[in-house]
Amino acid sequence: MTVTVTLPHTSYDIIIKRGALKKVASHLPLDRRVLIVTDDGVPSHYAASVEASSRYPTVVTLPQGEDTKSLENFGYLLTVMLEHGFTRGDCVVAVGGGVIGDLSGFVAASYMRGIDFYNIPTTLLSEVDSSIGGKTAINLGGIKNPVGAFYQPKRVLIDPDVLKTLPSRQISSGLAECIKMALTSDRELFEFLEDCPDPLNALDEIIYRSLLIKKAVVEEDEKESGLRKVLNFGHTLGHAIESEYHTHGLFHGECVALGMLPMVSDTIRQRLLALYRKLSLPTSVSFDRNAAAIALKHDKKSGKDSVTAVLVDTVGQFRFEKLSIDTLIRKLDYFTQ
Ligand code: GLY
Repeated sequence: MTVTVTLPHTSYDIIIKRGALKKVASHLPLDRRVLIVTDDGVPSHYAASVEASSRYPTVVTLPQGEDTKSLENFGYLLTVMLEHGFTRGDCVVAVGGGVIGDLSGFVAASYMRGIDFYNIPTTLLSEVDSSIGGKTAINLGGIKNPVGAFYQPKRVLIDPDVLKTLPSRQISSGLAECIKMALTSDRELFEFLEDCPDPLNALDEIIYRSLLIKKAVVEEDEKESGLRKVLNFGHTLGHAIESEYHTHGLFHGECVALGMLPMVSDTIRQRLLALYRKLSLPTSVSFDRNAAAIALKHDKKSGKDSVTAVLVDTVGQFRFEKLSIDTLIRKLDYFTQ
């Protein structure tokens, strides 16, 4: 299956194909210098497959985890490219999850003012969300993503076979992003997720339908001046929870799942909780409310004293509402009542 993202100044294909990683040369033009960026949590044979298909490969394996999206690694990758004589005609290939995709994409955007970037996402979360739409970034000063660029990939290669080796908890965490998109934009996909006895066995269909939503949003609003904010549904409160949990417990998607709960109507919340139970996603959490409130105030999307929140009263539809930070902090009380 192929989904094409068409933007005013560029277009690119997202190829969804089982086994594609084993035949990467038939999908990506790698007859040049290729910087392959991966991390030590990704099975090394994925990057090795890209390496074997490249004319002049350079593989860099970074430590797994959010801390890898650093200014130091950004500089390191650029230096590696310079030292290996990369020119504007060469390219970067990310083989990993959102961290590797964000960092490598920003490196590709910056080197010689922009060289070709290809993304091979290896987690469900990156396959359905972060690898699409051109958001690239690194973290700075303890803040998530304050430095980055909108820089679209030349192609995204999704091989759902890579998900076979992931623990089911990782898959469920990725499914939270699919639930996010379905809940705001596609009633039928939400009902499919509800009705499907085992969504983990229907991932190709779920990936494809989620990508159609993401494509439509990005095509309408590439630079997030309006509609694209819908993709932040669940993320504002999710990040506040995550700021306390990312080092000792919850995955990103699990925090997003929790972050959606206070932002929906009571009826939808009951359906959402049933779906979370089916997928073994968390339905409640305890955290330090004050710490989460501080994190909310620091969230870069918060602007000065209000944030454009996404709320859902009807499955498949959403509304934006400007909420003060204090109102958002009160929404966190859902978890302590
Ligand atoms: N992951 C949110 C976005 O791409 O806008």
